[in-house]
Amino acid sequence: MPDAIYTHGHHESVLRSHRWRTAENSAAHLLPRLRPGLSLLDVGCGPGTLTADLAERVAPGAVTALDHAPGILQEARATVEGRGVEGVDFRVGDVHALDLPDASFDVVHAHQVLQHVTDPVGALREMGRVCRPGGVVAVRESDYAAMTWYPRVPGLDEWQALYRRVATENGGEPDAGRRVSSWARRAGFAEVTATASVWCFSSPEDRAWWSESWAERSTASAFARRAVDGGHATPGDLAGLAAAWRAWGERPDGWFTVLHGEALCRP
Ligand SMILES: C[S@@+](CC[C@H](N)C(=O)[O-])C[C@H]1O[C@@H](n2cnc3c(N)ncnc32)[C@H](O)[C@@H]1O
Repeated sequence: MPDAIYTHGHHESVLRSHRWRTAENSAAHLLPRLRPGLSLLDVGCGPGTLTADLAERVAPGAVTALDHAPGILQEARATVEGRGVEGVDFRVGDVHALDLPDASFDVVHAHQVLQHVTDPVGALREMGRVCRPGGVVAVRESDYAAMTWYPRVPGLDEWQALYRRVATENGGEPDAGRRVSSWARRAGFAEVTATASVWCFSSPEDRAWWSESWAERSTASAFARRAVDGGHATPGDLAGLAAAWRAWGERPDGWFTVLHGEALCRP
């Protein structure tokens, strides 16, 4: 099966958003299951801030950080080493076919990865294969159709529709959050605990960075390029979306939530 195209790409505006992620704001559902000495695989680790947080919690357990994109693994290594976290191994790999032995990790984690792959059920099955009996597979995915915001500034509805169109055309599933539980059950896990949590951006600082990140992503990231190349938008349309993001960010009453579906799965 051909692989999906990673819709966001690794433009600086995208990475700024990923670097903000911490174990507390993005993996709270997993934290009660972590303890020193567990081995952990972080699939689709991106720039590695979450990996570093998780590795600190399981130290001295062995951690493997894996991503499809070799360039981003270099940044993950710099992040992890820069924080003085030891014992992390970095590997290029594809979640659909992990070059790792069966039952080799206590914890197999993926954050915002399944929405970008062609076969999320097969990916979960593969994550389950490398997880030890008694271990846990933990996933968390946003849901673009469930994102909600105030005020309804002109242009953000168009941004949401365009993003969902481009991500779907790239072979992904932008409304992944609501599907995580179903995908995990279809992957054959013995037990699936499905929950939800949100990011909420409303303080002046949060509004400023979230809106500016998406304003830039709307004109300069891989998403923007694919929107134009796929005939879904003109550069002028994209400039309009960036302006809409900035208009929202300037509103003192601005409020934006990103709903996430989560699952803890027992192989
Ligand atoms: C949205 S980022 C999430 C990064 C990180 N988990 C975080 O939340 O900060 C998704 C990452 O998954 C990686 N990815 C996409 N498809 C993949 C695949 N088939 N196998 C492994 N990694 C993949 C991308 O290269 C990207 O770094």
